[in-house]
Amino acid sequence: MSQSENLQTKLSELKAQALLKMSEAASSPALYNIKVEFLGKNGLLTEIMKEMGKLSKEEKPLFGKLVNEVKTALESKYDETELVLKKSELDLKMAAEELDLTLPGYPSGRGSEHPVGKVIHNIAQIMGRLGYSLRQGPLIEKDYYNFEALNIPADHPARDMQDTFFIDKTHVLRTHTSPIQIHSLESETPPLKIIGVGSVFRCDSDISHLPQFHQIEGMYVDRKVSMSDLKGTIGFFVREFFGPGLKTRFRPSFFPFTEPSAEIDCTCPICKGKGQSNNIGCSLCKSSGWIEIGGCGLINPKVFAHANVEYPKWQGFAFGFGIERMAIIKYGIEDIRLFPENDVRFLRQFES
Ligand code: DAH
Repeated sequence: MSQSENLQTKLSELKAQALLKMSEAASSPALYNIKVEFLGKNGLLTEIMKEMGKLSKEEKPLFGKLVNEVKTALESKYDETELVLKKSELDLKMAAEELDLTLPGYPSGRGSEHPVGKVIHNIAQIMGRLGYSLRQGPLIEKDYYNFEALNIPADHPARDMQDTFFIDKTHVLRTHTSPIQIHSLESETPPLKIIGVGSVFRCDSDISHLPQFHQIEGMYVDRKVSMSDLKGTIGFFVREFFGPGLKTRFRPSFFPFTEPSAEIDCTCPICKGKGQSNNIGCSLCKSSGWIEIGGCGLINPKVFAHANVEYPKWQGFAFGFGIERMAIIKYGIEDIRLFPENDVRFLRQFES
């Protein structure tokens, strides 16, 4: 027998043997081992190929072609056998792991409203009674809406009041809900009574600051609006929200989008303005009897001008509160970081 015939016989024997073994494989891992034995890097087919060196120049390519044919045949036999074996293995597994649909499920526990949501709903409900309706706005704002249109031009020192997260040169994560005022002024016709709510972002984080928190913004635009309208509205809101008998006071302040501007204080709801409870100084208001809850003022004519609203034909007031701060005051929460933690032991206390 010539070298070539000898190798060809070996090759066809190998093929027959591999096909037989594969068809007799009892499981997919056993089948895989057979594949490795014949087709693996150090397998029997490789062994035969090593002997190709003994063949003549003409015989080599012919034999190489034969080897490839055997390889392809064995690979496709492997694939189809594997498919059959895997299916029957899966069938067996499914039959063995029968589901008991009568078993009780895992208890999921009853949820409760988050205090931030609770405050928002409460404020919306109170202000709704005065005719205000809810608005939202984008979390990513153009610099124009977050600053410029609110009379905070580039390089204005008031920009330092808010540590801004910049998205790019012209977009920011909104630092307050005041841009909602501009969206409303641009897209709606006065008279307007709106409250804007939602998340705001500032590059700030400690025991009393979160990088993401919530604000509520109120805006009233009508033909004649005065500071006393504002004071009356805020006073009504505070008594409805924190409880009857609480007083409010305005402290002169500065916001670029309002003129005049004021900071809003109300009687401390914990010590009821006495500065102490149970003979110890009140920790919430630091014994002052007053607590700051937000900012407000009459809408600056420059804001109206940016939004193309005619002034003084239309006038208005605006105010803004921090929601977490309202919840802290109302429920006596001591650490602002409890809000985003979503610990059910914290949240359950707000179940209604
Ligand atoms: N936007 C202000 C802030 O985030 C809060 C504020 C102050 C809103 C006065 C107002 C306002 O509408 O009139 O600090």
